[in-house]
Amino acid sequence: MIKIAASTLAADSSKLEEEFNRVEEAGVDLLHLDVMDGKFVPNNALGFEEIEAVRKSTELPFDIHLMVAEPEKNIEEYLEFNPHYLSFHLEATSNAEELIELIKGKEVKVGVAVNAPSNIEEVFPFLGELDFVLVMSVNAGFSGQKFLENSVKKISELRKKIDEENLKVEIEVDGGINEENVKKVIDAGANIIVSGSTIFNSKDLKETINKLRGK
Ligand code: DX5
Ligand code: ZN
Repeated sequence: MIKIAASTLAADSSKLEEEFNRVEEAGVDLLHLDVMDGKFVPNNALGFEEIEAVRKSTELPFDIHLMVAEPEKNIEEYLEFNPHYLSFHLEATSNAEELIELIKGKEVKVGVAVNAPSNIEEVFPFLGELDFVLVMSVNAGFSGQKFLENSVKKISELRKKIDEENLKVEIEVDGGINEENVKKVIDAGANIIVSGSTIFNSKDLKETINKLRGK
């Protein structure tokens, strides 16, 4: 089953509640919250107060994507938002193992995100402990970038490894996904599709979401 996660980064910040209602009605599965600290990535997005405001304006389950340096420092605060999915970047911490255990202990689906310049093999040692892997298909930091083609190969390699080890790890793909390129990432083995600009710029959201499911 393909799940669609709408990235808040591309929503119109002047009318967030309306934007979230629109995606919820159109059948999106998750709200993907891009948290950026201006250190791990050269952009800032979603402080705690803003996440709180988002929490009040929608019932959609949260998929929190932490693009912050040393995510272990504030992890408890993010967990308080009761996300369904929570990922942090492997490149941002030297405590990945502990962090994975901590998040799992809260019964939140735990994922590790791998940025575009990193090799996918870097996540292999953690697969047995993870619920999902987030494969970046653009350089983390901004919405509206062009999809990087080499991410398709990364997804296939990851899917192969997960299947070889008989694991049930989901693969989320994030960045530059549109109605045209979504098929190849689904074929390669991704099952959670993040989309910012394609969703929020869509004139016919139901149709767009259907297409993003690979239909
Ligand atoms: C980029 C973010 C993505 C981004 C996706 O750092 O992690 O979630 O907002 O937006 P689009 O779909 O516009 O590339
Ligand atoms: Zn993201």
